[in-house]
Amino acid sequence: MWKGRFSQDTSSLVQQFGESISYDWRLFPHDIAGSVAHARAQLKAGLLTAEEFSQIESGLMEILGDIEAGKFEFKTSLEDIHMNIEAELTRRIGAAGAKLHTARSRNDQVATDTRLYTRAEIDGLLAAITGLQGALLDRAEKYAATVIPGYTHLQRGQPVTAGHHFLAYVEMLERDKSRLADARKRLNISPLGSGALAGSTINLDRRGIAEELGFDGVTRNSMDAIADRDYIAEVLFVISLCGVHLSRLSEDLILWCSAEFAFAALSDAHTTGSSLMPQKKNPDVCELTRGKTGRLVGNLMNLLVAVKGLPLTYNRDLQEDKPPLFDSVDTLRLILAVNTEMISAMELREENCRAAAADPMLLATDLADYLVKKGVPFRHAHELVGKAVAQAIATKTPLDQLDLAAIDPAYGPDAKDVFSLETALAARTNPGAPSIANVLGEIARWKSALA
Ligand code: ARG
Repeated sequence: MWKGRFSQDTSSLVQQFGESISYDWRLFPHDIAGSVAHARAQLKAGLLTAEEFSQIESGLMEILGDIEAGKFEFKTSLEDIHMNIEAELTRRIGAAGAKLHTARSRNDQVATDTRLYTRAEIDGLLAAITGLQGALLDRAEKYAATVIPGYTHLQRGQPVTAGHHFLAYVEMLERDKSRLADARKRLNISPLGSGALAGSTINLDRRGIAEELGFDGVTRNSMDAIADRDYIAEVLFVISLCGVHLSRLSEDLILWCSAEFAFAALSDAHTTGSSLMPQKKNPDVCELTRGKTGRLVGNLMNLLVAVKGLPLTYNRDLQEDKPPLFDSVDTLRLILAVNTEMISAMELREENCRAAAADPMLLATDLADYLVKKGVPFRHAHELVGKAVAQAIATKTPLDQLDLAAIDPAYGPDAKDVFSLETALAARTNPGAPSIANVLGEIARWKSALA
Protein backbone atom coordinates (compact mmCIF):
# COMPACT_ATOMS: atom_id res chain seq x y z
CA MET A 1 0.00 0.00 0.00
CA TRP A 2 2.96 2.34 0.54
CA LYS A 3 5.58 0.77 -1.73
CA GLY A 4 6.59 4.07 -3.45
CA ARG A 5 8.87 5.32 -0.71
CA PHE A 6 10.33 2.01 0.42
CA SER A 7 13.04 -0.12 -1.08
CA GLN A 8 12.72 -3.04 1.35
CA ASP A 9 9.78 -5.26 2.22
CA THR A 10 8.44 -5.14 5.76
CA SER A 11 10.21 -7.72 7.90
CA SER A 12 8.00 -10.71 8.57
CA LEU A 13 8.58 -10.23 12.29
CA VAL A 14 7.27 -6.66 12.01
CA GLN A 15 4.26 -7.97 10.09
CA GLN A 16 3.58 -10.45 12.84
CA PHE A 17 4.08 -7.80 15.50
CA GLY A 18 1.95 -5.17 13.83
CA GLU A 19 -0.96 -7.10 12.39
CA SER A 20 -4.45 -6.51 13.68
CA ILE A 21 -6.34 -8.63 11.16
CA SER A 22 -6.42 -11.55 13.61
CA TYR A 23 -8.96 -9.56 15.64
CA ASP A 24 -10.14 -6.55 13.62
CA TRP A 25 -11.54 -8.82 10.89
CA ARG A 26 -14.81 -8.62 12.77
CA LEU A 27 -15.17 -4.99 11.71
CA PHE A 28 -15.82 -6.17 8.13
CA PRO A 29 -19.56 -5.33 7.83
CA HIS A 30 -18.88 -1.82 9.12
CA ASP A 31 -15.79 -1.36 6.97
CA ILE A 32 -17.79 -2.34 3.91
CA ALA A 33 -20.77 -0.11 4.80
CA GLY A 34 -18.33 2.79 5.30
CA SER A 35 -16.65 2.13 1.95
CA VAL A 36 -19.97 2.01 0.07
CA ALA A 37 -21.04 5.33 1.60
CA HIS A 38 -17.62 6.83 0.84
CA ALA A 39 -17.77 5.62 -2.77
CA ARG A 40 -21.27 7.04 -3.18
CA ALA A 41 -19.96 10.44 -2.06
CA GLN A 42 -17.15 10.11 -4.63
CA LEU A 43 -19.75 9.37 -7.28
CA LYS A 44 -21.75 12.50 -6.30
CA ALA A 45 -18.52 14.55 -6.42
CA GLY A 46 -17.78 13.33 -9.95
CA LEU A 47 -14.70 11.34 -8.85
CA LEU A 48 -16.21 8.03 -9.92
CA THR A 49 -18.34 7.20 -12.95
CA ALA A 50 -21.63 5.40 -12.36
CA GLU A 51 -19.99 2.31 -13.82
CA GLU A 52 -17.02 2.52 -11.45
CA PHE A 53 -19.32 3.07 -8.47
CA SER A 54 -21.40 0.05 -9.27
CA GLN A 55 -18.26 -2.08 -9.73
CA ILE A 56 -17.07 -0.97 -6.30
CA GLU A 57 -20.45 -1.53 -4.69
CA SER A 58 -21.03 -4.98 -6.12
CA GLY A 59 -17.40 -5.96 -5.52
CA LEU A 60 -17.77 -5.01 -1.87
CA MET A 61 -21.07 -6.90 -1.61
CA GLU A 62 -19.40 -10.00 -2.99
CA ILE A 63 -16.58 -9.68 -0.50
CA LEU A 64 -19.15 -9.26 2.28
CA GLY A 65 -20.87 -12.45 1.20
CA ASP A 66 -17.56 -14.32 1.00
CA ILE A 67 -16.47 -13.23 4.47
CA GLU A 68 -19.85 -14.18 5.92
CA ALA A 69 -19.61 -17.57 4.21
CA GLY A 70 -16.11 -18.09 5.60
CA LYS A 71 -14.68 -18.12 2.08
CA PHE A 72 -12.42 -15.05 2.40
CA GLU A 73 -8.75 -15.50 3.06
CA PHE A 74 -7.40 -12.84 5.41
CA LYS A 75 -3.72 -12.05 4.92
CA THR A 76 -1.47 -11.06 7.80
CA SER A 77 0.79 -9.31 5.30
CA LEU A 78 -2.08 -6.90 4.64
CA GLU A 79 -2.10 -5.97 8.33
CA ASP A 80 -5.71 -5.05 8.99
CA ILE A 81 -9.29 -5.39 7.80
CA HIS A 82 -9.16 -2.13 5.84
CA MET A 83 -6.24 -3.16 3.65
CA ASN A 84 -7.43 -6.76 3.30
CA ILE A 85 -10.75 -5.62 1.87
CA GLU A 86 -9.34 -2.84 -0.32
CA ALA A 87 -6.60 -5.04 -1.77
CA GLU A 88 -9.04 -7.83 -2.56
CA LEU A 89 -11.50 -5.38 -4.12
CA THR A 90 -8.79 -4.01 -6.41
CA ARG A 91 -7.67 -7.54 -7.28
CA ARG A 92 -11.25 -8.36 -8.27
CA ILE A 93 -12.38 -5.19 -10.09
CA GLY A 94 -9.11 -3.51 -11.08
CA ALA A 95 -8.75 0.24 -11.66
CA ALA A 96 -11.97 1.39 -9.93
CA GLY A 97 -10.85 -0.31 -6.72
CA ALA A 98 -7.68 1.75 -6.71
CA LYS A 99 -9.80 4.95 -6.58
CA LEU A 100 -11.71 4.05 -3.43
CA HIS A 101 -9.15 5.38 -0.95
CA THR A 102 -9.32 8.94 -2.40
CA ALA A 103 -9.86 11.54 0.36
CA ARG A 104 -9.78 8.87 3.05
CA SER A 105 -7.20 7.44 5.46
CA ARG A 106 -7.20 4.31 7.51
CA ASN A 107 -7.26 6.69 10.46
CA ASP A 108 -10.75 8.03 9.77
CA GLN A 109 -11.75 4.62 8.44
CA VAL A 110 -10.86 2.74 11.63
CA ALA A 111 -12.50 5.45 13.75
CA THR A 112 -15.67 5.11 11.67
CA ASP A 113 -15.69 1.31 11.73
CA THR A 114 -15.12 1.16 15.46
CA ARG A 115 -17.93 3.62 16.15
CA LEU A 116 -20.31 1.62 13.96
CA TYR A 117 -19.26 -1.63 15.66
CA THR A 118 -19.66 -0.14 19.14
CA ARG A 119 -23.05 1.31 18.28
CA ALA A 120 -24.33 -2.07 17.08
CA GLU A 121 -22.95 -3.83 20.16
CA ILE A 122 -24.54 -1.28 22.49
CA ASP A 123 -27.90 -2.08 20.91
CA GLY A 124 -27.30 -5.78 21.53
CA LEU A 125 -26.20 -5.21 25.12
CA LEU A 126 -29.24 -3.01 25.83
CA ALA A 127 -31.53 -5.82 24.72
CA ALA A 128 -29.56 -8.41 26.72
CA ILE A 129 -29.66 -6.30 29.89
CA THR A 130 -33.42 -5.90 29.45
CA GLY A 131 -33.63 -9.70 29.21
CA LEU A 132 -31.82 -10.11 32.52
CA GLN A 133 -34.02 -7.47 34.13
CA GLY A 134 -36.99 -9.54 32.94
CA ALA A 135 -35.61 -12.66 34.64
CA LEU A 136 -35.01 -10.74 37.89
CA LEU A 137 -38.48 -9.23 37.69
CA ASP A 138 -39.98 -12.66 37.26
CA ARG A 139 -38.20 -13.90 40.41
CA ALA A 140 -39.22 -10.71 42.22
CA GLU A 141 -42.83 -11.46 41.39
CA LYS A 142 -42.62 -15.09 42.47
CA TYR A 143 -41.00 -14.12 45.79
CA ALA A 144 -42.67 -10.72 46.28
CA ALA A 145 -43.94 -11.71 49.73
CA THR A 146 -41.00 -13.88 50.82
CA VAL A 147 -39.53 -12.11 53.83
CA ILE A 148 -35.76 -12.30 54.33
CA PRO A 149 -33.39 -10.39 56.58
CA GLY A 150 -31.81 -7.38 54.93
CA TYR A 151 -28.12 -7.02 55.83
CA THR A 152 -25.61 -4.29 56.50
CA HIS A 153 -22.01 -5.35 57.21
CA LEU A 154 -23.35 -8.82 56.39
CA GLN A 155 -25.06 -8.71 59.80
CA ARG A 156 -28.83 -9.06 60.00
CA GLY A 157 -30.43 -5.63 59.93
CA GLN A 158 -34.13 -5.31 59.15
CA PRO A 159 -36.74 -7.36 57.33
CA VAL A 160 -37.21 -6.92 53.59
CA THR A 161 -38.68 -9.16 50.94
CA ALA A 162 -36.76 -11.18 48.37
CA GLY A 163 -38.79 -9.30 45.76
CA HIS A 164 -37.39 -6.01 47.02
CA HIS A 165 -33.87 -7.46 46.95
CA PHE A 166 -34.19 -8.59 43.31
CA LEU A 167 -35.70 -5.25 42.28
CA ALA A 168 -32.61 -3.49 43.66
CA TYR A 169 -30.62 -5.17 40.85
CA VAL A 170 -33.26 -4.24 38.28
CA GLU A 171 -32.65 -0.60 39.29
CA MET A 172 -28.86 -0.91 38.90
CA LEU A 173 -29.23 -2.48 35.48
CA GLU A 174 -31.59 0.29 34.41
CA ARG A 175 -28.91 2.85 35.25
CA ASP A 176 -26.39 0.84 33.23
CA LYS A 177 -28.76 0.91 30.27
CA SER A 178 -29.19 4.63 30.58
CA ARG A 179 -25.41 5.08 30.66
CA LEU A 180 -25.02 2.93 27.55
CA ALA A 181 -27.74 4.87 25.75
CA ASP A 182 -26.00 8.09 26.71
CA ALA A 183 -22.62 6.86 25.43
CA ARG A 184 -24.36 5.78 22.22
CA LYS A 185 -25.62 9.32 21.62
CA ARG A 186 -22.15 10.78 22.02
CA LEU A 187 -20.41 8.23 19.80
CA ASN A 188 -22.93 8.37 16.98
CA ILE A 189 -21.12 11.12 15.07
CA SER A 190 -19.23 10.42 11.87
CA PRO A 191 -15.46 10.97 11.77
CA LEU A 192 -15.26 9.96 8.08
CA GLY A 193 -13.74 12.78 6.03
CA SER A 194 -11.24 13.68 8.74
CA GLY A 195 -8.61 11.92 6.60
CA ALA A 196 -5.28 11.14 8.21
CA LEU A 197 -5.70 14.13 10.54
CA ALA A 198 -6.34 17.26 8.46
CA GLY A 199 -9.32 16.43 6.27
CA SER A 200 -8.69 16.51 2.53
CA THR A 201 -8.30 18.96 -0.33
CA ILE A 202 -10.96 16.89 -2.05
CA ASN A 203 -14.31 17.74 -0.53
CA LEU A 204 -16.79 14.93 -0.21
CA ASP A 205 -20.28 15.30 1.26
CA ARG A 206 -19.51 14.34 4.85
CA ARG A 207 -23.10 14.89 5.96
CA GLY A 208 -24.47 12.66 3.21
CA ILE A 209 -22.01 9.89 4.20
CA ALA A 210 -22.94 10.29 7.85
CA GLU A 211 -26.63 10.04 7.06
CA GLU A 212 -26.17 6.91 4.97
CA LEU A 213 -24.34 5.26 7.88
CA GLY A 214 -27.02 6.22 10.42
CA PHE A 215 -24.87 8.79 12.23
CA ASP A 216 -26.56 11.81 13.82
CA GLY A 217 -23.98 14.30 12.55
CA VAL A 218 -20.31 14.82 11.65
CA THR A 219 -17.32 15.50 13.91
CA ARG A 220 -16.23 19.15 13.96
CA ASN A 221 -12.47 18.88 14.40
CA SER A 222 -10.47 16.50 12.22
CA MET A 223 -7.63 16.13 14.76
CA ASP A 224 -9.97 15.33 17.62
CA ALA A 225 -11.93 12.92 15.42
CA ILE A 226 -8.80 10.92 14.61
CA ALA A 227 -7.34 10.90 18.12
CA ASP A 228 -10.59 10.41 20.06
CA ARG A 229 -11.09 7.11 21.87
CA ASP A 230 -13.37 8.56 24.56
CA TYR A 231 -16.30 6.56 23.30
CA ILE A 232 -14.41 3.31 23.84
CA ALA A 233 -13.38 4.36 27.35
CA GLU A 234 -16.98 5.26 28.18
CA VAL A 235 -18.35 1.98 26.96
CA LEU A 236 -15.61 0.02 28.74
CA PHE A 237 -16.51 1.87 31.93
CA VAL A 238 -20.21 1.16 31.62
CA ILE A 239 -19.47 -2.49 30.83
CA SER A 240 -17.20 -2.66 33.89
CA LEU A 241 -19.85 -1.12 36.11
CA CYS A 242 -22.51 -3.47 34.80
CA GLY A 243 -20.08 -6.31 35.53
CA VAL A 244 -19.54 -4.94 39.03
CA HIS A 245 -23.31 -4.94 39.61
CA LEU A 246 -23.60 -8.53 38.45
CA SER A 247 -20.57 -9.47 40.50
CA ARG A 248 -22.37 -8.18 43.59
CA LEU A 249 -25.46 -10.17 42.65
CA SER A 250 -23.19 -13.20 42.23
CA GLU A 251 -21.80 -12.68 45.69
CA ASP A 252 -25.33 -12.52 47.15
CA LEU A 253 -26.24 -15.75 45.41
CA ILE A 254 -23.03 -17.51 46.45
CA LEU A 255 -23.88 -16.67 50.07
CA TRP A 256 -27.52 -17.63 49.64
CA CYS A 257 -26.57 -21.02 48.20
CA SER A 258 -24.21 -21.84 51.10
CA ALA A 259 -25.39 -24.27 53.77
CA GLU A 260 -24.98 -21.42 56.26
CA PHE A 261 -27.60 -19.22 54.55
CA ALA A 262 -29.49 -21.81 52.48
CA PHE A 263 -31.87 -19.20 51.09
CA ALA A 264 -31.54 -20.20 47.44
CA ALA A 265 -31.00 -23.19 45.20
CA LEU A 266 -29.62 -22.95 41.68
CA SER A 267 -30.67 -25.58 39.17
CA ASP A 268 -28.42 -28.54 38.36
CA ALA A 269 -28.05 -27.11 34.86
CA HIS A 270 -26.43 -23.96 36.21
CA THR A 271 -24.08 -25.47 38.80
CA THR A 272 -21.16 -27.86 38.70
CA GLY A 273 -20.01 -30.81 40.76
CA SER A 274 -16.66 -31.71 42.23
CA SER A 275 -14.35 -34.27 40.69
CA LEU A 276 -13.51 -35.45 44.22
CA MET A 277 -16.26 -34.52 46.70
CA PRO A 278 -19.46 -36.28 45.65
CA GLN A 279 -21.79 -34.03 47.67
CA LYS A 280 -20.72 -30.74 46.09
CA LYS A 281 -22.95 -28.44 44.04
CA ASN A 282 -20.96 -25.35 43.22
CA PRO A 283 -22.19 -21.93 42.01
CA ASP A 284 -19.49 -21.63 39.33
CA VAL A 285 -21.52 -19.30 37.12
CA CYS A 286 -21.65 -16.76 39.96
CA GLU A 287 -17.95 -17.17 40.68
CA LEU A 288 -17.01 -16.79 37.02
CA THR A 289 -19.19 -13.70 36.74
CA ARG A 290 -17.33 -12.27 39.72
CA GLY A 291 -13.97 -13.36 38.28
CA LYS A 292 -14.58 -12.17 34.72
CA THR A 293 -15.58 -8.76 36.06
CA GLY A 294 -11.90 -8.37 36.95
CA ARG A 295 -11.15 -8.68 33.24
CA LEU A 296 -13.73 -6.02 32.41
CA VAL A 297 -12.14 -3.58 34.84
CA GLY A 298 -8.69 -4.54 33.50
CA ASN A 299 -9.78 -3.81 29.93
CA LEU A 300 -10.87 -0.32 30.95
CA MET A 301 -7.48 0.29 32.60
CA ASN A 302 -5.74 -1.15 29.53
CA LEU A 303 -7.34 1.44 27.25
CA LEU A 304 -6.94 4.42 29.58
CA VAL A 305 -3.26 3.70 30.08
CA ALA A 306 -2.72 3.16 26.35
CA VAL A 307 -4.24 6.57 25.51
CA LYS A 308 -2.92 8.67 28.39
CA GLY A 309 0.50 9.53 26.99
CA LEU A 310 -0.38 9.94 23.31
CA PRO A 311 0.26 13.19 21.48
CA LEU A 312 -2.29 14.18 18.84
CA THR A 313 -3.34 12.61 16.59
CA TYR A 314 -3.10 8.98 15.46
CA ASN A 315 -0.39 6.85 16.99
CA ARG A 316 -0.09 3.17 16.31
CA ASP A 317 -0.67 2.53 20.02
CA LEU A 318 -4.33 3.16 19.21
CA GLN A 319 -4.51 -0.17 17.42
CA GLU A 320 -4.42 -1.64 20.93
CA ASP A 321 -7.88 -0.20 21.61
CA LYS A 322 -9.74 -3.04 19.98
CA PRO A 323 -8.69 -6.19 21.92
CA PRO A 324 -10.02 -4.79 25.22
CA LEU A 325 -13.15 -3.45 23.52
CA PHE A 326 -13.96 -6.72 21.79
CA ASP A 327 -13.14 -8.77 24.88
CA SER A 328 -15.34 -6.67 27.17
CA VAL A 329 -18.28 -6.71 24.77
CA ASP A 330 -18.00 -10.49 24.29
CA THR A 331 -17.53 -11.14 27.99
CA LEU A 332 -20.48 -9.03 29.12
CA ARG A 333 -22.68 -10.52 26.42
CA LEU A 334 -21.94 -14.01 27.78
CA ILE A 335 -22.31 -12.94 31.41
CA LEU A 336 -25.75 -11.50 30.64
CA ALA A 337 -26.93 -14.54 28.73
CA VAL A 338 -25.84 -17.11 31.29
CA ASN A 339 -27.11 -15.11 34.25
CA THR A 340 -30.49 -14.61 32.58
CA GLU A 341 -30.84 -18.35 32.20
CA MET A 342 -29.57 -19.11 35.70
CA ILE A 343 -31.76 -16.53 37.47
CA SER A 344 -34.85 -17.70 35.59
CA ALA A 345 -34.35 -21.21 36.97
CA MET A 346 -33.33 -20.20 40.51
CA GLU A 347 -35.60 -21.15 43.41
CA LEU A 348 -35.71 -19.77 46.92
CA ARG A 349 -35.88 -22.10 49.92
CA GLU A 350 -38.72 -20.23 51.49
CA GLU A 351 -38.83 -22.18 54.77
CA ASN A 352 -35.23 -21.14 55.47
CA CYS A 353 -35.92 -17.54 54.49
CA ARG A 354 -38.89 -17.53 56.83
CA ALA A 355 -36.84 -18.99 59.69
CA ALA A 356 -34.09 -16.41 59.27
CA ALA A 357 -36.57 -13.55 59.01
CA ALA A 358 -38.30 -14.74 62.22
CA ASP A 359 -35.33 -13.52 64.28
CA PRO A 360 -37.01 -10.92 66.53
CA MET A 361 -33.77 -8.90 66.65
CA LEU A 362 -34.62 -7.74 63.11
CA LEU A 363 -37.36 -5.65 64.68
CA ALA A 364 -35.24 -3.92 67.33
CA THR A 365 -35.37 -0.72 65.26
CA ASP A 366 -39.15 -1.02 65.04
CA LEU A 367 -39.25 -1.31 68.82
CA ALA A 368 -37.33 1.95 69.10
CA ASP A 369 -39.77 3.52 66.62
CA TYR A 370 -42.60 2.28 68.85
CA LEU A 371 -41.10 4.15 71.81
CA VAL A 372 -40.69 7.28 69.66
CA LYS A 373 -44.40 7.13 68.86
CA LYS A 374 -45.01 7.02 72.64
CA GLY A 375 -43.07 10.29 72.95
CA VAL A 376 -39.60 8.98 73.86
CA PRO A 377 -36.79 10.92 72.09
CA PHE A 378 -35.10 8.60 69.53
CA ARG A 379 -31.64 8.62 71.14
CA HIS A 380 -33.20 7.55 74.46
CA ALA A 381 -35.38 4.96 72.75
CA HIS A 382 -32.28 3.53 71.02
CA GLU A 383 -30.56 3.13 74.36
CA LEU A 384 -33.59 1.52 76.01
CA VAL A 385 -33.91 -1.02 73.22
CA GLY A 386 -30.15 -1.59 73.31
CA LYS A 387 -30.50 -2.54 76.98
CA ALA A 388 -33.32 -4.93 76.14
CA VAL A 389 -31.13 -6.51 73.43
CA ALA A 390 -28.27 -6.91 75.92
CA GLN A 391 -30.62 -8.56 78.38
CA ALA A 392 -32.01 -10.88 75.69
CA ILE A 393 -28.46 -11.98 74.85
CA ALA A 394 -27.37 -12.34 78.47
CA THR A 395 -30.45 -14.35 79.49
CA LYS A 396 -30.68 -16.24 76.21
CA THR A 397 -34.28 -15.04 75.89
CA PRO A 398 -35.70 -14.06 72.50
CA LEU A 399 -36.21 -10.30 72.36
CA ASP A 400 -39.97 -10.67 71.90
CA GLN A 401 -40.30 -12.82 75.06
CA LEU A 402 -38.76 -10.28 77.47
CA ASP A 403 -40.82 -8.47 80.07
CA LEU A 404 -40.28 -5.09 78.44
CA ALA A 405 -42.44 -3.12 80.88
CA ALA A 406 -40.06 -4.26 83.64
CA ILE A 407 -37.17 -2.58 81.77
CA ASP A 408 -38.96 0.74 81.29
CA PRO A 409 -42.49 1.97 81.91
CA ALA A 410 -42.51 3.61 78.47
CA TYR A 411 -43.25 0.15 77.04
CA GLY A 412 -46.99 -0.47 77.05
CA PRO A 413 -48.77 -3.80 76.75
CA ASP A 414 -48.99 -3.20 72.97
CA ALA A 415 -45.17 -3.28 72.66
CA LYS A 416 -45.39 -6.99 71.81
CA ASP A 417 -47.38 -6.17 68.67
CA VAL A 418 -44.17 -4.71 67.21
CA PHE A 419 -42.92 -8.28 66.70
CA SER A 420 -45.32 -9.10 63.92
CA LEU A 421 -43.32 -9.26 60.66
CA GLU A 422 -46.49 -8.68 58.72
CA THR A 423 -47.25 -5.43 60.55
CA ALA A 424 -43.62 -4.37 60.38
CA LEU A 425 -43.46 -4.73 56.61
CA ALA A 426 -46.92 -3.31 56.03
CA ALA A 427 -45.84 -0.16 57.87
CA ARG A 428 -43.01 0.48 55.40
CA THR A 429 -45.12 2.35 52.90
CA ASN A 430 -42.89 5.32 52.12
CA PRO A 431 -41.73 5.49 48.50
CA GLY A 432 -38.85 3.05 48.04
CA ALA A 433 -39.59 1.10 51.25
CA PRO A 434 -40.26 -2.65 51.12
CA SER A 435 -43.93 -3.04 52.06
CA ILE A 436 -45.38 -5.85 50.00
CA ALA A 437 -47.86 -3.38 48.47
CA ASN A 438 -44.96 -1.17 47.40
CA VAL A 439 -43.03 -4.10 45.96
CA LEU A 440 -46.08 -5.25 43.99
CA GLY A 441 -46.54 -1.71 42.74
CA GLU A 442 -42.91 -1.60 41.59
CA ILE A 443 -43.25 -4.97 39.88
CA ALA A 444 -46.26 -3.70 37.94
CA ARG A 445 -44.41 -0.52 37.01
CA TRP A 446 -41.32 -2.43 35.82
CA LYS A 447 -43.45 -4.84 33.81
CA SER A 448 -44.90 -2.08 31.73
CA ALA A 449 -41.60 -0.15 31.60
CA LEU A 450 -39.70 -3.17 30.24
CA ALA A 451 -42.46 -4.34 27.88
N1 ARG B 1 -4.87 -1.23 12.06
C1 ARG B 1 -4.91 0.14 12.42
C2 ARG B 1 -5.62 0.36 13.76
O1 ARG B 1 -6.32 -0.49 14.17
C3 ARG B 1 -5.63 0.95 11.37
C4 ARG B 1 -5.13 2.35 11.26
C5 ARG B 1 -3.75 2.37 10.80
N2 ARG B 1 -3.30 3.69 10.56
C6 ARG B 1 -1.99 3.98 10.40
N3 ARG B 1 -1.69 5.22 10.20
N4 ARG B 1 -1.05 3.06 10.50
O2 ARG B 1 -5.46 1.37 14.39
